Amino acid sequence: MAKVKTVFYCTNCGVESPKWVGKCASCGEWNAYKEMTVDTKANKKATTTSYRENKDHVPTAVADIVTGTTVRQSTPDPELNRVLGGGIVPGSLVLIGGQPGIGKSTLLLQIALGLPITILYASGEESEEQIKMRADRIGLTNAQCYIYAETNVSKILKQAQKLQPQLLVVDSIQTLTSPHIEAAPGSISQVRECTGELQRFAKETNVPVFVIGHITKEGSLAGPKLLEHIVDVVLQFEGDRNYNYRVLRTIKNRFGSTDELGIYEMQGHGLRAVTNPSELLISQSQEDLSGSAIAASIEGQRPLLIETQALVAPAIYGTPQRSSTGFDLRRLSMLLAVIEKRVGLQLGQSDVYLNIAGGIKISDPAIDLAVIAALVSSLQDISLPKTTCFAGEVGLSGEIRAVSRIEQRIQEADRLGMETIYISRHNSKRIKQEDYNIEVKSVGRVDELIGDLFEW
Ligand code: TYD
Ligand code: MG
Repeated sequence: MAKVKTVFYCTNCGVESPKWVGKCASCGEWNAYKEMTVDTKANKKATTTSYRENKDHVPTAVADIVTGTTVRQSTPDPELNRVLGGGIVPGSLVLIGGQPGIGKSTLLLQIALGLPITILYASGEESEEQIKMRADRIGLTNAQCYIYAETNVSKILKQAQKLQPQLLVVDSIQTLTSPHIEAAPGSISQVRECTGELQRFAKETNVPVFVIGHITKEGSLAGPKLLEHIVDVVLQFEGDRNYNYRVLRTIKNRFGSTDELGIYEMQGHGLRAVTNPSELLISQSQEDLSGSAIAASIEGQRPLLIETQALVAPAIYGTPQRSSTGFDLRRLSMLLAVIEKRVGLQLGQSDVYLNIAGGIKISDPAIDLAVIAALVSSLQDISLPKTTCFAGEVGLSGEIRAVSRIEQRIQEADRLGMETIYISRHNSKRIKQEDYNIEVKSVGRVDELIGDLFEW
């Protein structure tokens, strides 16, 4: 007979406790404990099932382990290969997180259809017909891609053992249920148990597993932080749903760098990998408009020319509005204060709007200089040449600071036919003008830059 036990879990870190506590002793979170019932008998059975054919598996001395046999499976998607650090590692458990509707299912179905290997695509979110409709929309077919609409993790893994796929895709972890646990799908204990089972399957059969995970409103993965600890790779799919660009970021990677990102464009027939992002992110208009400046930025490992757009207009209501998309609002306030104090332009009575083209979130501090140029250009209503770009961080006293990998930024600007780039004086020492066609101008302070740009 099944024996039912009640335990408490911390919803933040997943730690278990026999009684409810207000503050988690492990992670310090307040009021995070939830009650769960666990079927102890079934649990015991669960831990003894093995997916490995060879039951007498023994520890191996590190010197005896043969390496070089793990060949990464390269996918037809160059952006995915990049974020994974060169392809799919056998036996790895990869979690793809993102907000609803961003394109996680589309991305994984597209990969499943594009890889000429046997794939089991298990979905608890959509029916087989719905997935088929999506596949028709993407326009790819793979005779070896099997769709299985199921939420029971044991059934999925049983089918996987039967089919012996070379890749297992699960959409999504929050819909899975394990028969060994009574809690509702998406609850901490279910997510933990199901991830654990998938992890064990991946490690014992050496089949890579891709799992989709939902993201909470706060931007963290729904379920305990523990989920991120169990899996080998965490990728985050992000972007503004009103725009077509999507960014796939590596948050954690046991087999590669976390400094990578892939860029996609959502089209009518699936996602397109954007291999040369700079050309797309710069707006196509030929006219010179005020309030627009191009930043020579670096995201992950890639140089990226990106357009910053600002609108400075007299405030109609009492309190001036400040709003930004893709750029930190506090940083914008700081830059506005620098313009007021160091350049002497009045912005206190103006509404200020800032927009990074393409709806992509940029964390590179080097775009400060372009933001300043765009703001002053809009305020003065004087357009900047489309062939001028900027790379520099702005400090509180208006000084322009050096940024990382300046050569790469200049090269990218040069390659795209830019004629002038403004950089920090502290960056210019290593730069030889003869190496580039682009004119490299170095500036020390914000007022110096504004003076040079607008010929004051
Ligand atoms: P979806 O992959 O279902 O998102 P998620 O799994 O992250 O919730 O797709 C989200 C959106 O993408 C949906 O609004 C429709 C759109 N879409 C396209 O624009 N083009 C396409 O080819 C496909 C398949 C979807
Ligand atoms: Mg989905």
